[in-house]
Amino acid sequence: MDPATREWQALDRAHYLHPFTDHKALGEEGSRVITRAEGVYIHDSEGRRILDGMAGLWCVNLGYGRHELAEAAAEQLRELPYYNSFFKTTHPPAVRLAERLCTLAPAHINRVFFTGSGSEANDTALRMVRHYWALKGRPHKQMVIARENAYHGSTVAGMSLGGMAPMQGQGGPGVPGIVHVPQPYWFGEGQFGEGRECTPEAFGRECAAALEAKILEVGEENVAAFIAEPVQGAGGAIIPPESYWPAIKAVLARYDILLVVDEVICGFGRLGEWFGSQHYGLEPDLMPIAKGLSSGYLPIGGVLVGDRVAETLIEAGGEFFHGFTYSGHPVCAAVALKNLELLETECVVERVRDDLGPYLAERWASLATHPLVGEARSLGLIGALELVADKASGRRFDKALAAGNLCRDLSLEAGLVMRSVGDTLIISPPLVITRDQIDELVARARRALDEAARRLSATDQGPSVGRVS
Ligand SMILES: Cc1ncc(COP(=O)(O)O)c(C=O)c1O
Repeated sequence: MDPATREWQALDRAHYLHPFTDHKALGEEGSRVITRAEGVYIHDSEGRRILDGMAGLWCVNLGYGRHELAEAAAEQLRELPYYNSFFKTTHPPAVRLAERLCTLAPAHINRVFFTGSGSEANDTALRMVRHYWALKGRPHKQMVIARENAYHGSTVAGMSLGGMAPMQGQGGPGVPGIVHVPQPYWFGEGQFGEGRECTPEAFGRECAAALEAKILEVGEENVAAFIAEPVQGAGGAIIPPESYWPAIKAVLARYDILLVVDEVICGFGRLGEWFGSQHYGLEPDLMPIAKGLSSGYLPIGGVLVGDRVAETLIEAGGEFFHGFTYSGHPVCAAVALKNLELLETECVVERVRDDLGPYLAERWASLATHPLVGEARSLGLIGALELVADKASGRRFDKALAAGNLCRDLSLEAGLVMRSVGDTLIISPPLVITRDQIDELVARARRALDEAARRLSATDQGPSVGRVS
């Protein structure tokens, strides 16, 4: 090992508490030190070049090493490195970014509230929907319905809105007044569910019916909003059945409830439209955004606010006591603005829709025949592989085998960052990936699967179908 790597690892172990990390395990294994990146590749301190199949954390949409973004930051740092927009002040980068975002968003969205992250965006959305109903003279409409296994961030409100049991089991009680309904996870909870014989379409409608049942149980008069990601990302790249969103829209149309669509992952081209809501024809009242807004180059998020809510807030007068020191930070805003310009002039979103998304779909689907793979799904540039011990029954591996983590680690050895969520492997590469790089990504994923199959077949767990290619 390179001495520099050893030193970084020692300092890291001694001083750095990482997010979402088992520090005991990390201390034993040592961190991988990432030193630089270009295009779709990251480089580690040992000189390895790795295809970043996750675009960092679903955010580096434009890829690494874009000098235009660095220059936009440097220029703004020289001009005005910081000022706030509290107390009736503003500055050009935030104003221009707000205007630009509203031209990209669905027509009924004409205002933006800036935050520093996706979690803060969801905190803002939660406070805003509750405040909205209070202003409307209906202060009892405070309940928010979210989904099981959703991810809306890691602040107390983000964790509470999210439906991830391990997160909710730590750090004490979350924000009250949030309830969860089933997720549209066909592979995991539909297809092989107990005694179930239904189609993805019927399952999608069943999930929407569960939302309606929850509204009736809680009482429409108590429900402020329903919040959901267009495609659940961190939950396992869960692409809902085609019937799901139309059925959800039909339910919401029957009740006076706000719709919050968390676009933190799906926004800025991931599904081949500027926003996931446009892919699914949704008209959200609020859209939390972050990540791809700046391609992850600087931290910035926000909430796109539809006219119904924005005009109520404005017309009611009085202050909304909410905001962050770095809301609309000028340097982050300048970088985000340049990022949007590049996405637009380079037709990145259209390319995902018309070329790269369909190409990934075809190549990714070729992994479905692998003995370890129960399902290979993708939409735009997000994809998942479901690992199974038995393809016919969808039987999973024993949890103790940690098949997902094994595949993830082998994938890294094969030169590809994939992420594992249980026994689901997920990808979300930079939107500037080429067709050749997609071929490389799929070849590396296959190599990891082959090696995992070899190792897992040494256990009595399988894989029990087919031959390791
Ligand atoms: C859908 C969604 N919402 C919110 C967040 C939280 O964003 P941040 O990590 O910027 O706080 C994430 C992060 O992965 C996310 O995937």
